[in-house]
Amino acid sequence: MKHSHHLSGSLHLTGKSRFIADDAPLQGMLHAKFLFSPVAHAEIISLDVRAASAFPGVYKVIGATDITGENQIGHIIKDEPLFPEKTIMYAWQPLAMVLAEDEQVAEAAVKLIKLSYKELKPIFDPLEADSCEEWYVPERKIESGDVVSALSKAPYKLKGITSSSGQEHFYMEAQSCRAIPFEDNRIMLYSATQSTMEVQEVVSHLLGIPAHDIIVDVPRLGGAFGGKERAATIWACMAALGAYVCKRPVQVYLSRHEDMHATGKRHPFVSLWEVGFDDEGRISAYDIQLLANGGAYSDLSVAILERAMFHSDNIYHIPDIRIRGRACRTNLPPNTAFRGFGAPQGIFVIESILEDIARQLNLDPIAIRNANAYKNGSLAPYGQEIVECQIPEIFSALVNNAEYHKLKAEVADFNLANSRFKRGLGIMPVKFGISFTTALLNQGSALIWVYIDGSVSVSTGGVEMGQELSTKVAVVVSRVLGIPIDKIRVESSNTQRVGNASPTAASTGSDINGNAARIAAEKIRECLREPAAKLLEQKYNLAVSQEELVFSQATVYPVTNPEHSLSFAELIRFAYVERIPLAAYGYYRTPDLWFDRDKGNGRPFHYYVYGAALAEVELDCLLGEHSLRKLFIVHENGQSLHPDIDLGQITGAAIQCYGWCTMEDLQWDAKGNYISANPSTYKIPGIRDLPEVLKVDILASLSKEASVFGSKATGEPPFVYGLAVFFALQAAVRAANPDATLSFPATPEALLKGLKSV
Ligand code: MTE
Ligand code: HPA
Ligand code: MOS
Repeated sequence: MKHSHHLSGSLHLTGKSRFIADDAPLQGMLHAKFLFSPVAHAEIISLDVRAASAFPGVYKVIGATDITGENQIGHIIKDEPLFPEKTIMYAWQPLAMVLAEDEQVAEAAVKLIKLSYKELKPIFDPLEADSCEEWYVPERKIESGDVVSALSKAPYKLKGITSSSGQEHFYMEAQSCRAIPFEDNRIMLYSATQSTMEVQEVVSHLLGIPAHDIIVDVPRLGGAFGGKERAATIWACMAALGAYVCKRPVQVYLSRHEDMHATGKRHPFVSLWEVGFDDEGRISAYDIQLLANGGAYSDLSVAILERAMFHSDNIYHIPDIRIRGRACRTNLPPNTAFRGFGAPQGIFVIESILEDIARQLNLDPIAIRNANAYKNGSLAPYGQEIVECQIPEIFSALVNNAEYHKLKAEVADFNLANSRFKRGLGIMPVKFGISFTTALLNQGSALIWVYIDGSVSVSTGGVEMGQELSTKVAVVVSRVLGIPIDKIRVESSNTQRVGNASPTAASTGSDINGNAARIAAEKIRECLREPAAKLLEQKYNLAVSQEELVFSQATVYPVTNPEHSLSFAELIRFAYVERIPLAAYGYYRTPDLWFDRDKGNGRPFHYYVYGAALAEVELDCLLGEHSLRKLFIVHENGQSLHPDIDLGQITGAAIQCYGWCTMEDLQWDAKGNYISANPSTYKIPGIRDLPEVLKVDILASLSKEASVFGSKATGEPPFVYGLAVFFALQAAVRAANPDATLSFPATPEALLKGLKSV
């Protein structure tokens, strides 16, 4: 099968793909602007909207008292009001919404709202929040063996604190939603969300109307990266409330500046750890406490903390291990899902530790990783058995592709000969667990219609956000029905066609929706066998058994008699005349998942994705600037549904992480005002930041555990590869200053500080 087909590619390239804010304004549509809180933590004394309401062109100013249901948008933990009534919890928290004929009027009116408040002491530091026991839920723990006694017996020990910082999602399409009132108090929401079900459910509670009165439709997102899994809900609620109260269409579309200020980001983590190891660098004991800086409301912080805990071992088997985690409430915008969902933060800690051990014992960074790696049959700290572990093959492919030993010698020679410029190598393996760790989310549905001309419409609960889920779903249906992809339309995600859809997240989009679509398509194919046999008999006077029919290349034929075929379109028309159903619903749930939170034990993942990366950098020790010379990636992927899309996902994810760990520097002032809310002060990687050599090797594998048609998820695992650059930079800094420490992110300032440290 050819894989080059990409359903959105030409639309994106020609600028024809449409996003919510591209749709023409509707008659009577109101535009929303918000009064955002000027402070991070305060008691509201009064909010006077009279002048704003009277401003010409303003239709209505909406606040907490306009809410017809509950002023509550928390989903799992109910701790987040749409509009705070008493306490402001973060700077740029929306306090009131102005609805006006156009955005300029709304903006002018916002300035007329009079807010008076009494400032409270904010907390931004997770260590401080932790010491005040500001947690959303009690401490979580995963434990295996006896870490205290193993630490006391270990020949060597190291102890430390490792931090990683936040990250702005920087999706191209800012948060948006258009709400349209329908007859009989129903509402249509075009929402830029990864989760139609969550939007429907939360809006239903907010307005106090049943879910079937709220229709959510997501045509496509201009990027999300986790930033619309939960964080889109508040803006959908705003639009829905406005439309419900005013009976007019309402559009919410944040500017980049507003979006950067008001929305939560990747969780910064602080981890306190102690590790025990022997003189070959084998880790026998690991005790880690992870603190997630969750921001003002719980959002997805507990699940993110949990995934960080599940990935604290990365690829290493550590016999005695204790992983404790606390998600801490601070006065920042609620931090939220971001590609990797905590896993990169957990993995970063153990990898930093391995680097330190390798340096202390003068061991090769790949050798020490191999020595500690899982072997098939060993158990992860939460009890899941490791099977089909590909780590040895991956490391050997990486060593070959990068000519590692030669490269290592070259780097050493270069560093001996140069003092201003230093080179470094960094290694970054990954084992990434696939499934929502909230087991109930691992289910999904699809609805397929075959129209009488043989063209096909596929709906799933999956959301297209650039990962090209739609193409992957089309690939699946195309294989089952034996028709080309261009005969298939993958529709918007719409609650009327597919309800109760889990968020498109946890990299499970193609596994869950692909499987649901496969099941629906198989049902249709099975129904087509009888009319196909009948038509073949009529047409060629052939006696054929239904079982031997092959659906391939837009035709149907008996396996023993391929020259006697029907076109798919001809068969469909006949099937319609014969009154055969030409639609089907498919339902899929991921098998064999369970997790006992109290015991910290179970099988949370359907399978793991494995891979590794190697980066080479050159650091200018005078300027603190670097160039990324080479990045090699070896990624194990089962039987890819679409290697070109996967290649895009792998490189995109790795470069996104490269940004996180070397460039993207979130800055707040002492009062919690975000001062890097602009692309001019917040640098994300651009095309010129790509490495001079970028080689991605996708290792096909026959995994029994993999998902639809033997494929594996690709969305998030490759993010982690970018951390190879951090460790390469740390190696370069240490080539100049052997005892240096490098702080995260490795910006030029951090690199210069590292060069001068100790
Ligand atoms: N790729 C693009 N282009 N845009 C995105 O927003 N989100 C990532 C990843 N790849 C994202 C992306 C995240 S966070 C996830 S969880 C997965 O895609 C979700 O889609 P999937 O499960 O279909 O891979
Ligand atoms: N990943 C992404 N989103 C989620 C998860 C997860 O593991 N659990 C709940 N929401
Ligand atoms: Mo992805 S962070 O699970 O949306």
